[in-house]
Amino acid sequence: MATLNTLYYGDNLDIMREHIGAESVDLVYLDPPFNSKRAYNLLFKSPKGHQSEAQITAFEDTWHWAEQAEREFDDLLHQPNTDVAEMMKAFRSFLGENDVMAYLTMMAGRLLELRRVLKPTGSLYLHCDPTASHYLKVVLDGVFGVQGFRNEIVWKRIHTVKGNFGQGSKFFGPNTDSIFFYARSEQQKFNPAFTDYRPEYIDQFFHHTEPDGRRYRLISMIGPGGASKGNPHYEFMGVTKYWRYSEKKMHELHDQGMIVQTKPGAVPQRKQYLDQGKGAAVQSLWTDIESASGGESLGYPTQKPLALLERIIRASSDEGDVVLDPFCGCGTAVHAAQKLKRRWIGIDITCLAIGLIEKRLKSAFGKECEFKVEGTPKDLESARDLAARDKYQFQWWAVTLVDAQPFQGKKKGADTGIDGLKFFHDLQTKDAMKIVISVKGGGLKADDVRALNHVREREKAEFGFLISLAEPTAKMRADAASAGIYTSGAGQKYQRVQMLTIEGLLTGTERGEHPDYVPDVNYKRAKREKRHKEGELFEGPQPTGP
Ligand SMILES: C[S@@+](CC[C@H](N)C(=O)[O-])C[C@H]1O[C@@H](n2cnc3c(N)ncnc32)[C@H](O)[C@@H]1O
Repeated sequence: MATLNTLYYGDNLDIMREHIGAESVDLVYLDPPFNSKRAYNLLFKSPKGHQSEAQITAFEDTWHWAEQAEREFDDLLHQPNTDVAEMMKAFRSFLGENDVMAYLTMMAGRLLELRRVLKPTGSLYLHCDPTASHYLKVVLDGVFGVQGFRNEIVWKRIHTVKGNFGQGSKFFGPNTDSIFFYARSEQQKFNPAFTDYRPEYIDQFFHHTEPDGRRYRLISMIGPGGASKGNPHYEFMGVTKYWRYSEKKMHELHDQGMIVQTKPGAVPQRKQYLDQGKGAAVQSLWTDIESASGGESLGYPTQKPLALLERIIRASSDEGDVVLDPFCGCGTAVHAAQKLKRRWIGIDITCLAIGLIEKRLKSAFGKECEFKVEGTPKDLESARDLAARDKYQFQWWAVTLVDAQPFQGKKKGADTGIDGLKFFHDLQTKDAMKIVISVKGGGLKADDVRALNHVREREKAEFGFLISLAEPTAKMRADAASAGIYTSGAGQKYQRVQMLTIEGLLTGTERGEHPDYVPDVNYKRAKREKRHKEGELFEGPQPTGP
């Protein structure tokens, strides 16, 4: 079963079935792809002087009704929750066998697993947009029961929307997402959230002021529910009512100057000071959290803001609890969970996302954040297995072994001869210089070295790294050596074309050699989370240097 904190690379359905025990998780947040037929182009930072060419389609959120959907649909018919089975049959007869049905089938199976792993005190938050939210809520009702529904949180995602009416659009600009909040049972945990009052609210309600300037409002002391709720009945300041407080407590409050009768005969009220209140209780409309743009953005297209995840995690878990994000993308939920001292599990089907989260956590928390990564190859055999299963994932993973970023060129599948890029600085240079990387998952061919050197020259790159699963021949190594030598500003000599094997990189016996380099030239870094005296974490400025 899962050891915490763990990042899993793989399909969340398989990972949950194999690694996550029943009733072991306190909170699930999931932000699945929406079936919006969007390609998730991952943008990498390019150093000054290099165009932004390094972008890659990490994930395409398009589903089709095919063999896998049919298999998963059949699984849904044969699991114990017959409501879900009936509902999926009804959906299929209404929607037919199309992309939406394939998407809902994928989601239903995963939501059933998520319910299984939740503790009875646990909650689930499903983040989605209007593309399929109406169907997803029906699926959630089937999985958790209608009684499990707590809220539809509407998050105002975009604060300044440009109207597209000039381009002929005939609808209101969509600027909200929905977050469905369900509880596993009545034993669910919940910590209410509060925000500062809006200035207009303060002016409208806290309009009384003490001589020392303290603002307060007057609130009712009448016992709600009267006699039926056991409230005491007595006369106070000439008014007889069912009161919220005992007679003794009422007199104490009066002696402390906490009770005001605005005119004789009026119902007495209690003072509530602005500086003593918790603030305004957060309701289901969230308009106070900006999307993850600017400094917080790591270039992952669907990245959610940390503040959003912090609110959810605070509301439905306590320190030490376990938070699971089965579609974790660039890891916002994992980051927020770590910051708030929860334990966590993140799962994503692209190894790029997992690599990005590793870097994010290291930048934000340094060594203090301990975690394991499962599913990415750890030895030659598992690397071979990944290469056989998925050529692109293998290439993306292999280039991260030399701390490079994957490269896919402008057109998907276009063979530029480049699978990865890396930038470095030499002592004398102001601008970053380039390394091109080629990955070979199958056998090596005699002219692979020459081809890479040709690409290196064409791209005006200082170095070329050829990463291979197979062991290069002595002739290939000699060809690589004959591509020339780079002499650094510090006078060190490096081979321009280097042959690197997956095994050597994994065991640490080989590494791509080049002059000093600054790691954050290649990836955007997450801001460092710092501790202040009380041990609380807060966001601090970005560190300088590596
Ligand atoms: C909308 S993004 C999540 C973004 C995330 N909330 C963040 O703040 O970065 C959805 C993610 O789900 C992943 N994904 C899609 N299908 C998956 C599956 N079956 N198992 C695990 N991850 C999956 C995609 O790779 C993508 O990174």
